[in-house]
Amino acid sequence: MKTVTCTAPVNIAVIKYWGKRDTELILPTNSSLSVTLSQDILHSKTTISAAKEFSHDRLWLNGIEEDITKNKRMHNCFRETRAIRQAMEAKAEAEGTPIEPLSTYPVHVCSENNFPTAAGLASSASGLAALVYTLSQLFELTISTSEVSRIARQGSGSACRSLFGGFVAWEMGEKEDGSDSYAVQIAPETHWPDLQALICVVSDAKKGTSSTAGMQSTIKTSLLMNERINNIVPARMEGMKKAVLDKDFQSFAELTMRDSNQFHAVCLDTYPPIFYMNDTSRAIIQLIHEYNATSPDGKLKAAYTYDAGPNAVIYAPKENMAEIIQLIGHYFPSNKEPAEFFANPYNAINGKLGQDFIPKDHANFNQNVIPVQPAGSVSRLLHTKVDDGPRVLSQDESLLKEDGLPK
Ligand code: DP6
Repeated sequence: MKTVTCTAPVNIAVIKYWGKRDTELILPTNSSLSVTLSQDILHSKTTISAAKEFSHDRLWLNGIEEDITKNKRMHNCFRETRAIRQAMEAKAEAEGTPIEPLSTYPVHVCSENNFPTAAGLASSASGLAALVYTLSQLFELTISTSEVSRIARQGSGSACRSLFGGFVAWEMGEKEDGSDSYAVQIAPETHWPDLQALICVVSDAKKGTSSTAGMQSTIKTSLLMNERINNIVPARMEGMKKAVLDKDFQSFAELTMRDSNQFHAVCLDTYPPIFYMNDTSRAIIQLIHEYNATSPDGKLKAAYTYDAGPNAVIYAPKENMAEIIQLIGHYFPSNKEPAEFFANPYNAINGKLGQDFIPKDHANFNQNVIPVQPAGSVSRLLHTKVDDGPRVLSQDESLLKEDGLPK
């Protein structure tokens, strides 16, 4: 039996992927760009064992066994990785140096997230990235990370961007077979250490309209969508790449907020409309714009972005994080134990959360921009940073026992 365990990170797009030109191969209607967040805070962990003694492929997701044959997207990822392994085995055989025929063995897969699934926290991205990365390690595939991302793309579009750390573009490609639609790293995690993120968990509930269904509904019905994919995103991708390479927070922040707003605008333009943000999400947007108005030099201090759910992700330079955490803590009071609401992993704040927030006396800060919200409107704050791509863990981190069943 051969066993490998890996973790993969969450990525949060700053230029959003929304819409497919091919729903089978998962080929997008526009390129997108994301930031990989630290696995120390959020990750998916996957263990895969391959053994000739196993009777069939089996899968356990967050402790529950699922029927692998019903999951077409996962099945495609298995098929692709096994085909590459099979070619390697055939070549090795022909050269007289045979390798273990792992491609013919059934596998047991056990995967878990350290955060709630389907809450708009990009769980499908990290989950599918962990699956495909672990398969590539198990089969010792001698292909590039972009090639691995091309396979992960077929599991979930945004998953292809979780194969790299740092700043990652998913180039949409043009070919019908999808061979040129994969992720590339724009800059590594060490490039812009000053950039951090604060995730405001607005709702732990499962979302109403899935991304998969929502985006195709947008493609079919939104008239604004054509403008977005043909005339807006291509220029934004260039602008965002430059902003990242130049570590230009002003451009990065404005593009991030505008692109999030436009993504939610095409959702509203979908017929019937799709709402992912709620009143709490919108209150955070107002607060961040008010906070940005207090900047001494007119430069933006923070940027928000929202995926297919109500949670906010706030990107900001490290130096502003304490202020932002205090600000959110004041307007969105917790109804939990302090450490459960905000764990302060990087010691960003001293003392109590939300008691005092620095910009309150600033002439440009309208304290009444929003009322203090009901306790618990934001359920958790996760402070995180830009970090690395998938990691291979040691054998003792395995989620499967010696007999190939979950621990
Ligand atoms: C709003 O990758 O979840 O998070 O390809 O159908 O699995 P499928 O969709 P998914 O879509 C994510 C969309 C988004 C924006 C983004 O991450 O770019």
